[in-house]
Amino acid sequence: MSKINIAIDGLSGCGKSSTAKAVAKSLYYKFIDTGAMYRAVTLYFIQHKIDLSNHEEVVEALSNIQIDFEFNQESQKNETILNQQNVEQEIRKMYVSEMVSPVSAIKEVRVAMVAQQQEMGRHKGVVMDGRDIGSVVFPDAELKVFMTASTAVRAKRRQEELAEKGETVALDDIIENLESRDHQDSTRAESPLIKVEDAIEIDTSDLRFDDQVQKVLNLAESRIEKVE
Ligand code: DC
Repeated sequence: MSKINIAIDGLSGCGKSSTAKAVAKSLYYKFIDTGAMYRAVTLYFIQHKIDLSNHEEVVEALSNIQIDFEFNQESQKNETILNQQNVEQEIRKMYVSEMVSPVSAIKEVRVAMVAQQQEMGRHKGVVMDGRDIGSVVFPDAELKVFMTASTAVRAKRRQEELAEKGETVALDDIIENLESRDHQDSTRAESPLIKVEDAIEIDTSDLRFDDQVQKVLNLAESRIEKVE
């Protein structure tokens, strides 16, 4: 059966990654969470106190960063590995969320990440979620989805996710972080978050998780038929 690439872009915290992961599982495709890659770079920059305004320092740091994904049988999750260290838990913490937008706005960071992402999707059969997948990484993706949800719904879901991992964060702080990231991600000069013309918008505010996955799967199946 022919394979396609599926790009899922959208606002922070509207369920892109969990949807992309479930869609990939159902189609036996590879799932790539590009937000995790930007988060891993951010963690490295924080740990090594990289001055974001110093071009040479940023370029040098990027040359020392290797990001991989490793499937964990126990959690049934693709986990993020930064220079051979599993950083899956650490990159989801609030102190990383607070720094990730300025780091991902840096041109050199984007160039390095996009090159890796394009390589991962070279043979098709990839479900990738992020902000610039349909616009920059895979402008020729056979299916592009743009996901949205109200801020209140997104914040509540993120709060529950963090609580499950033992981090208690006030709803107002989460709302502030989501809104500030949406603003920074949509207004940055380098590949801002936009809804491209050929993307299909799905508002997940009132959708059950299984229904949003099914919607994407239905779209995917009709696109797969077309390429066959
Ligand atoms: O999907 P996420 O919330 O884990 O992403 C974290 C940040 O990474 C997000 O605020 C913006 C950035 N990002 C990006 O600029 N481009 C992508 N393709 C994915 C994420």
